[in-house]
Amino acid sequence: MEIFAHRGASAHAPENTMAAFVAAYDQRADAIELDVHVAADGTIVVIHDDTVQRTTQGTGAVAQLTYDQLRRLDAGSTFGASFRGERIPTLAEVLDFVRSTSMRVNIEVKGANLSEERLLQLIRDHDMIERTIVSSFSWNVLRKMQAVDSGVQVAPLCTEFHVLTPDEAYARGFQAIHPHLRSLSPMYIRRAIDLGVSLRPYTVNRTEDVSALFRLGTHAIITDDPLRARRIVQQM
Ligand code: G3P
Ligand code: CA
Repeated sequence: MEIFAHRGASAHAPENTMAAFVAAYDQRADAIELDVHVAADGTIVVIHDDTVQRTTQGTGAVAQLTYDQLRRLDAGSTFGASFRGERIPTLAEVLDFVRSTSMRVNIEVKGANLSEERLLQLIRDHDMIERTIVSSFSWNVLRKMQAVDSGVQVAPLCTEFHVLTPDEAYARGFQAIHPHLRSLSPMYIRRAIDLGVSLRPYTVNRTEDVSALFRLGTHAIITDDPLRARRIVQQM
């Protein structure tokens, strides 16, 4: 079972920062998951919310701040004083880092104003087509990426209530689904395995969930704590 570090190893370091991505690598995660928005000057940046106040000392909407303004914000102190000085990274910076490792990257498209062509170009420029998965709750973004047949794997994100079955995903040409943990059942997982549709549920942090999903043969989990998940799996 592959272990994807949700917003990096976000149980150990501030989410969506280089510190969290390096921690994920140190904890032997197979991949990192991250969220992207577009800044006012067009830079694709790595941050979960569409505003900066929850994770930095600043205020305002990401789409209305230039990258120059965003990179002056402290994205570490809210998590802990020892992370003071962590910045909001650009996607390009993170791709540079991931390329230097053996990890994969799961880019979750959050911002509605992101151009699929620009995103693909950036992934191509970093020679990361085969190691990238693009996911989104907005399945339209994924359909556009499928239409250009870029070679990047796309994966629809499902909520607990808005669910795509493995059969539906297969019929729509999706090789993977990123479902909400609570929407899963042993039958659903079995069917996905039979169809060859990869399942990467989120956000799997509880010991009993990690072990149950492992026993059922789930392809991967998305977790805040790759170190803990790895230990649980190794003890089984
Ligand atoms: O990719 C799974 C998960 O990240 C989706 O929810 O809110 O953590 O981005 P969220
Ligand atoms: Ca996410």
